[in-house]
Parts: sequence; C-alpha cells; structure tokens
Amino acid sequence: MKRDQPASHVGPFSAEDEDDNTMHLRKDYRWQIRDVGTEPLLIDLVWNDRLRGVAETLLGEGMLQPPVVGGRPMGSEGAAWPGGPVDPAVNEGIRGIYCTLPHGDAPRQSIGDHTDGHPFNLGIVGLIDEVLPEGGGFRIWPGSHKRLYPTFQMQYDQPRIPYYAHLPSYKGIIHSPAYLAELADIMADTKPVDCWGQTGDVVLWHHRLVHAAPPNYTQQMRQAVLNDFSRTDLDRCRLDPPQANMWRDWSDRTQQVSVAYSEAFAVAQRLPTATGESAGMQDQRG
Ligand SMILES: [Fe+2]
Repeated sequence: MKRDQPASHVGPFSAEDEDDNTMHLRKDYRWQIRDVGTEPLLIDLVWNDRLRGVAETLLGEGMLQPPVVGGRPMGSEGAAWPGGPVDPAVNEGIRGIYCTLPHGDAPRQSIGDHTDGHPFNLGIVGLIDEVLPEGGGFRIWPGSHKRLYPTFQMQYDQPRIPYYAHLPSYKGIIHSPAYLAELADIMADTKPVDCWGQTGDVVLWHHRLVHAAPPNYTQQMRQAVLNDFSRTDLDRCRLDPPQANMWRDWSDRTQQVSVAYSEAFAVAQRLPTATGESAGMQDQRG
C-alpha cells in the first residue's frame, strides 16, 4: 500500500500488510489505528471547544470525563479474550482512527450490525476525509436506541461469560432474549441510514443505537476518528437498570428539548422529511 497510489488502497490487506497488533490492527478491509489515541493531536481533534461544547450540551456542563494526554490508548491490554474483540472501555483517550479500505469489485457482504457492549454515554464518528455515499461512512438504525434500551439488564453494561480455554463453547457478551427479539424486529422493520459527508462532519450517536461500519464501494479509503464520551458519574450510574426516563443521565437541556426538527434542518442533514421523502437523496441515505 502506497499513500500516493489510491489503487493500492483497495482491500483486502495483503498477507504481508496484515497486522494483528490490537494497537494497530490491519485485517481484511479494516484498519484500526489506536496507538495514536492519547496523542495531543488526536485528542485536540475531539476535545476541542466546539465538539466538547456539543457533548456538554447533551450530557451536562462539567460532566465529561476528560482524556489523558499520553495515557494508555485502547488496545493496550490486547483483546478482551483470546480471539475476541478489544474492549473500547479500557482506554484513556480517543478510540482512534478507523479506516475501511475500498472493496473494489468484491461481492457485497453482510455487515456487522450491533450495539456496543461496553459502558459510555455518547459516541461520535468524525470524518477526517470526504466520504461519499456507499463510501463506508457509518450506518445507523434510527430509533433503535429507544427500543433496545429497556431490554438490557443494566443501563450501560452487559454481562459477560468469562473465557476459559477448556470450556470454549460459551464466552463473551450475553444478550437477553428480549434484546434479541427486538433487534430482529428492528432489522425487519427499520431502514438503516448511511451517514457520509465532508471532512470534519461528525455523527453523534446514542450508546444503545444499532450501528455498523458498512462496506466501502467507492475508490477512496474511509477515514474516521471514533470517540466515546463518558460522564464523570458513569461508574455510579452504570449498574442501574434501565430507567423509566431513558434520558435521566443526560443534561436538563437535552431532556427538555423538542424531538421535532424543521424541514430546513432535514434538508441540511439529508434526513427524511415530513412528506416521507429523503431530502436531496434518492435512496434515503443521509
Ligand atoms: Fe460498535
């Protein structure tokens, strides 16, 4: 792979370019650069007045857990269990730069829709290069957070089965039957929305939202910075069961705001409009 030769960016990674280092993972079409997550440059990209201001408006002024410059990045302790994923909660900084290589002519494959199983409050995906439609941006299932939130045992965590080498059949995150049933319904009745845009555009998403990193069918690599914002009281709130008011731990302002949005906002954000049509797009992507 050569920086100035876009044709060399088409995935999957060749065997010689693959890397299973959890701090710098390169496999198939995914490139997850985590060792930069506590570098000042990357922290400034997320922990700046504008973006922090948005997160504080949503979660509460003075309520954000700050990142630690020079701290331990995500992936420092390897996978959560052998062969498993890295736990994003073991992290003192930004999650890192997550890239999806172009798929080229490879057949379209199913993608990993999921909710995150680790505790935090508000996620962001920030584009650090232009991402075109079908460019691998960020796929979400609108409204899924409100339907799934009540199906968890705890507001922010999920119970896990420990990994034992001699008992390999069960390991990892446990999903409740209610969660699995609701997720199946969401997959059947909710059309996902692909978020894409210009350099600097940011997707803000609720902790319990179903999401995926979709395939990239453009000619350029998808490059995004991911971060999880957590409140300073997360440790105290995390074991509470789902609340009647699912916005209890959000700012007063968030709890008081109207959920409606204007036609102009819908057009600007490429959201479905009041008439049911997606503004400015043919296929309801936005
Ligand atoms: Fe995720």
